[in-house]
Amino acid sequence: MKGESSRERFDVLLPCHIAIIMDGNGRWARVRNLPRAVGHRAGMKTLQEIVRHASNLGLQWLTLYAFSSENWLRPVDEVEYLLSLLKSFIRCDLVDLHKNNVKIHIIGERDDLAEDIVSLFYEAETLTLSNTGLNLVVAFNYGGRNEIVRAVRKIAEHITSGRIKDDDIDDPLVASYLDTALMPDPDLIIRTSGEMRLSNFLLWQAAYSELSFVPCLWPDFSTVDFDMAIAGFCQRERRFGALEEEQMRGMIL
Ligand code: FPP
Repeated sequence: MKGESSRERFDVLLPCHIAIIMDGNGRWARVRNLPRAVGHRAGMKTLQEIVRHASNLGLQWLTLYAFSSENWLRPVDEVEYLLSLLKSFIRCDLVDLHKNNVKIHIIGERDDLAEDIVSLFYEAETLTLSNTGLNLVVAFNYGGRNEIVRAVRKIAEHITSGRIKDDDIDDPLVASYLDTALMPDPDLIIRTSGEMRLSNFLLWQAAYSELSFVPCLWPDFSTVDFDMAIAGFCQRERRFGALEEEQMRGMIL
């Protein structure tokens, strides 16, 4: 996606797609002697600010890791609280997001989700389908391995039914079976809270993403931190497995 994936805006080269692992709500609450739920509620405020900011900047794609396929392992109360936050985010913010021309996409496995959540996803995606501003991707009940397994199953089904041949399997075909089909790969993945891992996030799509690990906890992450991560991204040289242009020109084999 080099070249066409970035565009100039406010004198910086904006990445086309930023993805965020919003980590540290629990620790933010713990250091304040507060229940974890308060940390998640504060995290939700940050999420709303960052979405608004990304939309104002003119970013094309923003993906947020809201709930992983492994997050079901947390205590029931916490899971229920996270689900209620997601529902209130869609119920309360949808009209505003739509007014601001934001197009919502949800990725992750929907099969075993409660009906009210699935229909909220449907409502959000349908209402905003024709919007042309920020593409906001919410990764919910999402796991990179789970996504790849579901894609491999579908590919096998389609080979058995004769819809595709095994010779057709290549990078673009596999990508087209993922939840992120038709979305650009993330140029930049930001993780807050100082942890340095991907935690099953966009495993296929992150092949050439630049990574930015930010020490602050998600509720403390500000629009300034976001802009600094973008500025850091602009300093990186992306080679996508090749060499620097100058090295390529001077290369003697
Ligand atoms: C990590 O904090 C964050 C999450 C598990 C999900 C992110 C949730 C929000 C930003 C709140 C809004 C929620 C939704 C579903 C829209 P953590 O609990 O892992 O923090 P810790 O590592 O410090 O315990």
